[in-house]
Amino acid sequence: MKNIVVTGGAGFIGSNFVRYLLERYPNYHVVVYDNLTYAGNLDNLQDVSERFAERYDFVRADICDAKEVERVVQQYSVDTIVNFAAESHVDRSLMEPGGFIQTDVYGTYVLLEAARKFGVERYHQVSTDEVYGQVLDGRSTESDRLHTRSPYSASKAGGDLMCLAYFTSFGVPVTITRGSNNIGPYQYPEKVVPLFVTNAIDDLPLPLYGDGLQMRDYQYVLDHCEGIDVVLHKGQIGEIYNLGTGTETRNIDMAHLILKLLDKPQSLLQPITDRPGHDRRYALDCRKIQSIGWQSRHTFEEALEKTVRWYVDNQWWWRKIKSGAHYEEYYTRQYAGREINPAAT
Ligand code: NAD
Ligand code: TYD
Repeated sequence: MKNIVVTGGAGFIGSNFVRYLLERYPNYHVVVYDNLTYAGNLDNLQDVSERFAERYDFVRADICDAKEVERVVQQYSVDTIVNFAAESHVDRSLMEPGGFIQTDVYGTYVLLEAARKFGVERYHQVSTDEVYGQVLDGRSTESDRLHTRSPYSASKAGGDLMCLAYFTSFGVPVTITRGSNNIGPYQYPEKVVPLFVTNAIDDLPLPLYGDGLQMRDYQYVLDHCEGIDVVLHKGQIGEIYNLGTGTETRNIDMAHLILKLLDKPQSLLQPITDRPGHDRRYALDCRKIQSIGWQSRHTFEEALEKTVRWYVDNQWWWRKIKSGAHYEEYYTRQYAGREINPAAT
């Protein structure tokens, strides 16, 4: 493996993965292929383009553009495609599902076609624990049925199934990881942890959906990157690997801890109307990836502490985003008027 295309590499996890790969493997060349949606941000890769100029290239293009995908695969003699590109936020999928189907399903198909046509050695799909749907008891294993409930998770499941179809029907060497919620540097502040941390820094309310008792397995983004690396090098083609810490935290407890770490009053917590179809709990059984040599390095508390510190120290990064017109418009559309009036409950 030498010439890797990382689609969606200007986003949160993708940019962390690119930095990780270039630091870890001095002989790898990485092409980031990203069309820079609202979530794509070249600030995420600023240091990468300076430190690794000779082993890093950036192409601004859409994964749904088959011609451009083929050109890049040919021009760079690509042997590996790692697909992070996606519309990734559940709340936006409830507003505008079409873009999710386009990128997460059709875009995956376009990449798989290129992988097939040019015989790439590996196509890796970065997927999510959300494809299993909510898991009220027990833990999801890789062979469980998919019970998606949001347009986001349904689109991601569509992408996964297309990957498996291309493996079975055409022998494309695919692997899939299904990761739990990531936290860490460069996460767009629409996702709950960077949203809560940056709001708390500015003494703004933390909008908690419903009763706050929903549970997520929050993992540190670099643990997730290492897991993908392990699957790329030691995973079996045609296989799916769950990737998380195996420990769940309630949203309300996560919010309390953020306020405590920042020394802010708990009164900033603002209960608001719940997300429609809100999945109550995700929980992964990660024994399969552990059996090929991966273990998460950070506990939830360690991951959250590092994350909070990064947003405190890197306000230049998120203030630029939060002061933009796109963010403000989204925030108003998503949150205005959803506060639960405590007097009425
Ligand atoms: P993100 O929204 O931060 O980044 C997505 C990136 O993809 C952006 O840079 C965007 O510009 C790019 N992109 C979107 N549509 C594109 C298109 N049509 N063509 C080219 N580029 C396009 O997302 P993220 O949180 O970094 O997630 C990355 C991947 O990991 C996604 O596939 C997501 O489903 C998956 N995942 C995320 C989490 C999480 O907690 N964030 C957990 C598990 C899995
Ligand atoms: P999110 O970061 O959107 O990830 P996902 O829904 O894909 O797991 O949300 C994580 C959890 O936080 C989820 O249970 C919804 C909840 N949440 C809030 O309570 N308030 C918010 O403003 C957001 C964005 C999420």
